[in-house]
This record gives sequence, C-alpha cells and structure tokens, in this order.
Amino acid sequence: MKRVGILTSGGDAPGMNAAVRAVVRTGLIHGLEMFVIYDGYKGLVEGNIKQVDRDFVSDIVSRGGTIIRSARLPEFKDENVRKIGIEQLKKFGIEALVCIGGDGTYQGAMALTKMGINCIALPGTIDNDIASSDFTIGFDTALNTITECVDKLRDTSSSHQRCSVIEVMGRYCGDLALYAGIACGADLIVTSDHILQRNDIIARLKAMHEEGRRHAIVIITEKLCDVHQLAYDIEKGSGYECRAEVLGRIQRGGSPTASDRVLAGRLGVRAIELLLEGKGGRCVGLRGNDLVDYDIEEALKMERDRHSNLIKVVTSIC
Ligand code: ADP
Ligand code: F6P
Repeated sequence: MKRVGILTSGGDAPGMNAAVRAVVRTGLIHGLEMFVIYDGYKGLVEGNIKQVDRDFVSDIVSRGGTIIRSARLPEFKDENVRKIGIEQLKKFGIEALVCIGGDGTYQGAMALTKMGINCIALPGTIDNDIASSDFTIGFDTALNTITECVDKLRDTSSSHQRCSVIEVMGRYCGDLALYAGIACGADLIVTSDHILQRNDIIARLKAMHEEGRRHAIVIITEKLCDVHQLAYDIEKGSGYECRAEVLGRIQRGGSPTASDRVLAGRLGVRAIELLLEGKGGRCVGLRGNDLVDYDIEEALKMERDRHSNLIKVVTSIC
C-alpha cells in the first residue's frame, strides 16, 4: 500500500481538520502518498481527489469545519454507485481510505472495505452517537458552545423570571443534552433515553413555580417534539412565562477545543498505523484514555452507553 485517501462525511464537526492533519502528516512520515477526497463520498464518486503535501494541512489544527468539506450522498448505499467511486480511486492508484464521520460514514467505509478498499473509520460528529468510542471528535467543542449559550440564556431567563426551553442537537442521541444539562445546572433534561411526558414536564415546572423558584432551564434533545409548542404548553400550565430557543447549527461551528484536537490527533495517527499493519474495515475509538479498534461491522452493532452514572449526578444536583 503506497497511496492513501482521506475524506470527511456527514455533518461536519470541529476537530475534523485536526484529524485530517494528523492522518496526512502521519502518512507522509511513513512514506505514503496522501490524497484528499473533497465532499465525502460525493466527491469520491465524482473523482474530486487531489494529492497533498505537508503544507496542505498547515494552520488548520485550530480551524472549525472541514477544509476538505463534507456532503451527504444517500445514493452511496447503492453498490453500483460505490463501484463508480472505486473506479475513481483506481485512476489515482489509491488503495486505502480513512473516512471520518458518524455511523452513516461508518456504513459507507464498511461497504467499501467489502468491495476491496481497506478503510479505517474515525468518529467525527458532534452527536457522540458512536457506541464504539466514549467520545467523538467535535462533541466536546459542541458541548462547550452549548454551555456558553445556555449560560447567556440563563442571565435573561433569570432577569425576566422565565422558563427557557433550549433544544440542542444530537440527532437521536441525548449526550449533548445530558452533558450540557449537568454543565449548565439545568432544572430538567429531556432526551430520548430519559423521556418525560409533556404532562410530567409541565407538572414538575408548576411545582417549581409554586415552590417559588423564579426561573427554570429545560434542555431537550432535538426531534422529540416541537419545542415552540412545548413552550406554549408550559406557559399555559406551569405559571412560568416561557420561551423556546433552538440553538441549531451554531453548535457545529467554531474552533475545536484542545480536548477535541488531541483526540483527533491520536485517532488520526492510529488510523495510519492500522493501515500500515495491513488492516482494513476497522474503526478507532477511545475507551477510558486508551485507543481501541474494532471491526466496523461489530462496532455498528454495539449498544450506546446510557450513562447511568451521569443520571445519578443529574438526580442529585439538577
Ligand atoms: P453521519 O456519517 O454523520 O452519520 P450520514 O448518516 O448522513 O452522516 O451518512 C453520511 C454518508 O454516508 C451518507 O450521505 C452516505 O453517503 C453514506 N452512507 C450512509 N449510510 C450508508 C450505507 N448504509 N451504505 C453506504 N453508505 C452509506
Ligand atoms: O449529525 C450532526 C447533526 O448536526 C445532527 O445533530 C443533526 O440532527 C444533523 O446533523 C443536521 O444535519 P443538517 O445540517 O444536514 O440538517
């Protein structure tokens, strides 16, 4: 194996650049020829591929987003579309890929490996929904962004004695809401793992209002309900004036935290080591403070940690 490609795919995440940098530089140090594939699997199919040197990844460790861009291409599930991508790789003599993204990206990497291209998948998503890694690249930065936003919302919520319902991202994973809820001292945290029925939410807030607690912060994972309707219902039923805030894609932007940069660097180096060991169809993750790697197929079947240890914290201090 001499030529290796790298792509970022799915929702972008802060720290993807740091991972690209680590993969490219580690590959070059080991004498590999390194290529970037723009726009994820879409660019692979379109042949948007370029050989890069050390300088290409200079000054990107602190940059948010991904300089090789990201995209979604649902058609990549089709084997015939993947065959076009493999033909493109052959034109450049690329034999192996590092694919950075979420579980959809992992599916693509697994499918390509089965078709003869050795792929290593790295967890890059703010959602922290990759069961084979305790943390994903981008989660810590997004969590810090949310914390900063909620702290600001707390100021105005408290001045006006309101309830703020704050919707955070995570797709179907509640980790951003759970961690942010603890970090921000939220009064209620609602996620798909810890669903509260609308009536329960209103009843709890009503009790808080009657206790004389002057304002309230509710953090809720996206896709569970219409938060504007929820805010309306809370206002009608709890005694609090209530506002809904959807933080949206601001959570995906910004310079990565030091923690995300270090994680990205460690995972990137390991990805190249695995390829040099002749391995493919693997994904790298973090367990405790150790790097681990699994067969992608096995990793995709893993159950996510439901954080029972954190729930104890929530019930004690939130
Ligand atoms: P993420 O990687 O963040 O989960 P997506 O679910 O959008 O984001 O997946 C990213 C891309 O991975 C998709 O646009 C598609 O190109 C590819 N992909 C997703 N699922 C599959 C699959 N089952 N087989 C092959 N490729 C897939
Ligand atoms: O996977 C990252 C993520 O930001 C999710 O939290 C969110 O549900 C989704 O991507 C939004 O994707 P898009 O920006 O394509 O609408």
